Amino acid sequence: MGLKILLVGGGGREHALAWKIAQSPLVEKLYCAPGNPGIARHAECVNIGAGDLVALEVLAVEKRIDLTVVGPEAPLVAGLADNLRAAGQAVFGPSASAAAIEGSKAFMKDLLRRHNIPSAHFQVFTQPKAALEHIRKQGAPIVVKASGLASGKGAMVCHTLHEAEQAVHRAMVAREFGNAGREVVVEEFLTGEEISFMAFADGQHLLPLASAQDHKAVGEGDTGPNTGGMGAYSPAPICTPRIHDRIMAEVMEPVVRAMAEEGRPYRGVLYAGLMLDGDKLKVLEFNARFGDPETQPLLVRMYSDIVPFLLAAAKGTLAGMKIDWDPRPAVCVVMAAGGYPGSYASDHPITGIDAADRCADVQVFHAGTRLLDQRLVTHGGRVLGVTGLGATVTQARKTAYEAVDLIRWQDVYFRRDIAHRALSREAQ
Ligand code: AMP
Ligand code: GLY
Repeated sequence: MGLKILLVGGGGREHALAWKIAQSPLVEKLYCAPGNPGIARHAECVNIGAGDLVALEVLAVEKRIDLTVVGPEAPLVAGLADNLRAAGQAVFGPSASAAAIEGSKAFMKDLLRRHNIPSAHFQVFTQPKAALEHIRKQGAPIVVKASGLASGKGAMVCHTLHEAEQAVHRAMVAREFGNAGREVVVEEFLTGEEISFMAFADGQHLLPLASAQDHKAVGEGDTGPNTGGMGAYSPAPICTPRIHDRIMAEVMEPVVRAMAEEGRPYRGVLYAGLMLDGDKLKVLEFNARFGDPETQPLLVRMYSDIVPFLLAAAKGTLAGMKIDWDPRPAVCVVMAAGGYPGSYASDHPITGIDAADRCADVQVFHAGTRLLDQRLVTHGGRVLGVTGLGATVTQARKTAYEAVDLIRWQDVYFRRDIAHRALSREAQ
């Protein structure tokens, strides 16, 4: 008998996961809650939101699910993995106490400090007045972060004192990020280049994934406000074997050891956002889940069946496993609704997606789409992640953009310069 797997979520990351999991010969049936029209090609979508913990648990028990794979952070922070484990179910994803590494930046920063893991200097505040006094003493540039979950929008890099004061106001007074802004982390501004690093973890052992890098800023040249991510590529040439080994030894291994020691063993995928400046390597953030959109190019490059790794992370048996990767680079271009990350319109009909899907070495992952009167329409800020593979970054990017250029909707927006850093390194 094959496995029954339940995937939780309905974005681009989950489409990439569904596409990959469905290819496994170990899988008999894949469900996805809530899924999206792209995911529906690989899984039976069930109309339960990723935040409906009770209904998800009922579904997992009723369908006799062998493994639940949780995509987004919010249900993990809310305790979905704990509930399912208490019901005797296997889960890929950390407990609420381990997911606090993403759910509470104050917890995460204290953990790093307790264990001497390098990150920016910081202080935590629960009162705006104290935060403002500290900021005025420190001066700009400075970074103000809502401690809780804020859909990737709670970190405000402030270049002037005025911006920093406004950031405190937005988070703590206007409560723009809801309760996430009750507590605020004010930290030192770091310069350098960012790296995304992900590894499977089973509570004790780590198995790193290939390197990746994303583009958070909305505008070309990495300008403008931050988004969930406008594109990503793998591998990240900045992550040389030496840097890889340092990240494992200085950050990933100490964190997994620290979490285990503190009674919060970390199981699932641990994502570290890091800043590299010359020889200085510092943690910016941790996520308790796969990166989105980094997962799209990563999984397109994964030769190995992903399911044994998901099971091993859930069951504590990762030691000695190895992942095989396609050596070719992959580039994912996010196509978004015009206006994102601000306000944008929805329900614009999407054309050209079938032609793009037929291109060789291309996967079109759906993020914010839905069917309206049997037509595919936009349904969210980030709509599609068009992912191309190629012999070189130049070729992968060309393949991705050729497919992007076949797809249209009213007010579509995407960046033309995804992977520019990898390209400049390739040219060297
Ligand atoms: P976070 O949600 O903490 O990862 O922050 C989101 C983004 O803000 C990061 O990917 C960086 O681009 C930027 N950022 C966060 N912390 C800092 C920092 N201490 N110095 C400079 N930039 C930062
Ligand atoms: N792409 C950044 C993230 O997933 O948080």
